[in-house]
Amino acid sequence: MRPLQRDMRTIIRSGSLIDRFRFIVMAVTAILAVGCKQSTIQERILTLPPPFTAYKVDPYIQVAAELQSLGREAACSVMSQAGTNATCFQELPIFVLNGCTKRLMFQDIPEAMLARMRELEEIDLRDRSDGTSRLNRLRQISSEVGRFIALLAAAAPDGRRVEIGTSAGYSTLWLALACRATGRKITTFEILDEKAKLGRLTFRAAGVSDVVELVHGDALTCLPEGHDIGFCFLDAEKEIYGCCYEAIVPQLVPGGILVADNAISHEATLRPMLDRALQDVRVDALIVPIAKGELVCRRK
Ligand SMILES: C[S@@+](CC[C@H](N)C(=O)[O-])C[C@H]1O[C@@H](n2cnc3c(N)ncnc32)[C@H](O)[C@@H]1O
Repeated sequence: MRPLQRDMRTIIRSGSLIDRFRFIVMAVTAILAVGCKQSTIQERILTLPPPFTAYKVDPYIQVAAELQSLGREAACSVMSQAGTNATCFQELPIFVLNGCTKRLMFQDIPEAMLARMRELEEIDLRDRSDGTSRLNRLRQISSEVGRFIALLAAAAPDGRRVEIGTSAGYSTLWLALACRATGRKITTFEILDEKAKLGRLTFRAAGVSDVVELVHGDALTCLPEGHDIGFCFLDAEKEIYGCCYEAIVPQLVPGGILVADNAISHEATLRPMLDRALQDVRVDALIVPIAKGELVCRRK
């Protein structure tokens, strides 16, 4: 466990002098972040006087990220115990995101996110063998596909990050890692009440509500028009893939990426849409044979 990941109250009340001092500097840094422009925040962190030069940027950012992973309420209580205004925490995501660009996506997954991922993996596995109805199953992607879409989302050009088909939010968590690493946010669409509830639960438990917006509704009617989508992951009912493809491709920015799941497992149903994509003069497209098959399209 990292030193400042310990219970902050213990640090304030009974931590060593150096731990208390580190915590206070972190809290002061967070206050300085409020109302400052991003570059100014980093300059201020970088010019903190000794002995804090040894920390450089990353540990400060980690401290902020760890505070955030405690959950908003716990973090606010820690901040107010340190004598700061609890609302300062609302500014922390900006502070965290800027500094996180140097962090690896897969080797630095926060504990709360990992725990929820494991929980969902177990539920999904159980669903597939215990007779749970199709409507109630999570039907989520594999972790390999999670990594694949996270890499593509992180590499995709600027623009909105969109997901069609949240279920309980497992794939969204992988995309949230890409958003954290690149300072972006994702909007995910879920049509079913029960799944939308589960998705919200996931985003709260994993501490990613600052980078994930869940829209409860039909993506085909709720997705706002705009020619500014940098990345889209499509994983909904196969019958709507064709309509989603036609709705998304015109909205992709140049170089924008659309990934659609189940290109091999549901090849017969998806054949018209797959043929359309593979022959579409607006995109370069390829079916990647991992897991259930991922159709990847890049807008020219
Ligand atoms: C295969 S699951 C998604 C799994 C999720 N991507 C994951 O890997 O964790 C498909 C989900 O899409 C949702 N869905 C189907 N049609 C939709 C639509 N038109 N708009 C939004 N969500 C939709 C379903 O309710 C279902 O929860």
